[in-house]
Amino acid sequence: MRLSAPTGGPDVDLDAVDLFDARTYSDGDPHAAWRAMREHAPVHRQTLPDGRSFASVTRHADVSAVLRDHTRFTSRRGTLLSILGGADPAGDLMMAASDPPTHTALREPLGRALSFAALRSRHPDVRAVVRRLIAPLALEGAWDVAERGLGFPMEFTGALMGLPESDWPELARLTTQAVAPEDPLFGAEAGHGALVAAHHELFEYFAELAHRRDDRDDLVGFLKRMDVGGRRVRVEEVVYNCYSLLLGANVTTPHAVSATVQAFVEHPGEYARLTGSDRQTATAVEEGLRWASPANHFMRYATVDTELSGRPVRAGEAVVAWLGSANRDERVFADPYRFDVARNPNRHVAFGFGPHYCVGAPLARIALRMLFGELVRLVERFEAAGPVTHLRSNFVAGIRSLPVRAVLRPGAADELKGEADAATPAR
Ligand code: HEM
Repeated sequence: MRLSAPTGGPDVDLDAVDLFDARTYSDGDPHAAWRAMREHAPVHRQTLPDGRSFASVTRHADVSAVLRDHTRFTSRRGTLLSILGGADPAGDLMMAASDPPTHTALREPLGRALSFAALRSRHPDVRAVVRRLIAPLALEGAWDVAERGLGFPMEFTGALMGLPESDWPELARLTTQAVAPEDPLFGAEAGHGALVAAHHELFEYFAELAHRRDDRDDLVGFLKRMDVGGRRVRVEEVVYNCYSLLLGANVTTPHAVSATVQAFVEHPGEYARLTGSDRQTATAVEEGLRWASPANHFMRYATVDTELSGRPVRAGEAVVAWLGSANRDERVFADPYRFDVARNPNRHVAFGFGPHYCVGAPLARIALRMLFGELVRLVERFEAAGPVTHLRSNFVAGIRSLPVRAVLRPGAADELKGEADAATPAR
């Protein structure tokens, strides 16, 4: 997402707003459109040239209502605009594309495996990933947070899932391609072909793991042995949920990191307020999540004729909940376009709301708190060091390149240098 606040005025031609086009987020002004929609068209409809259509909700209350209520708004027909109008082959197999009770049966055991308590033993691994990520700060003039951050969740999720380290770079690339197939990063293949190719490779990868006879002691092994409401988990369920876990982690977390660092570059006064206390860092991380809203939307289908903000919604309609808009709703957030590291309360919906609330939120929070705790301890301030480029996607509000220079605190360079040397294998 190119912008974090509207640049245009309040007069927006809502008939001309195109929320489907990925370029709206890389080159346009979605915040101006969302603000006008929240004010004048809380249920807004768009029809694509091929006749497919969807309704959009932009207010925090409506976004929460749609995500919370699986009886009125189902996830089984797909939850992303990229598959609008088609059937979702993952329906009833993948947590994210199922409703209770199927969803609950899949979610309960996985939720336990990914809880704060279960992840406590993983803290040293995550800390090591954080240290590796920031070690180059001591060595390089400019640090491309976005480029380096792409591999950040892959490292801790890859380790948790027991995936071989040599596969991580390719898996990180494929997951980004799956959510931003229109990005020029994917070259000649860009577009629907890139999406299909990425899905195909990821599913093949996980199908091979799911079928392999082994007794692995990691998250994939846990999934393969999982009891789903009194029965053994199915192979397809293992494949889809491995895919979903990796995608969920890889395509969102890096952008929470880069958008927060970018906010620190643009609002040095806010960064200077941070003293490094755990509580203060945790509060700042939540503001970074609200600011970034890395998952831009999630979709549902209405199961009945109903209403949102007093406007009718018809049974069968696709309803898209724009999280990026809900997180700037002036009805809920005072001064919503202000980045405030001490914002409290902060009822952001960056992790969603209701039964599908991000199952990876504890892992993401642990990693982000550790990362920003370390950065505040070592870095006095961040400065821009080159042009910022943005991901072209209607789903992920992402940054592709964000070169920054870190001005280190006294002693930090030596500490980081020691870390970088230790990470370099001896020849
Ligand atoms: C900053 C990081 C993250 C953000 C912003 C984020 C955002 C979200 C959101 C908004 C949802 C709700 C989807 C819906 O309502 O349909 C969700 C669900 C999910 N996320 Fe995350 N996520 C993050 C990190 C992670 C991580 C680290 C993992 C994996 C370990 C993960 C795996 C999942 C899965 C599997 C679901 C589906 C849960 C369900 O359907 O019950 N996410 N995420």
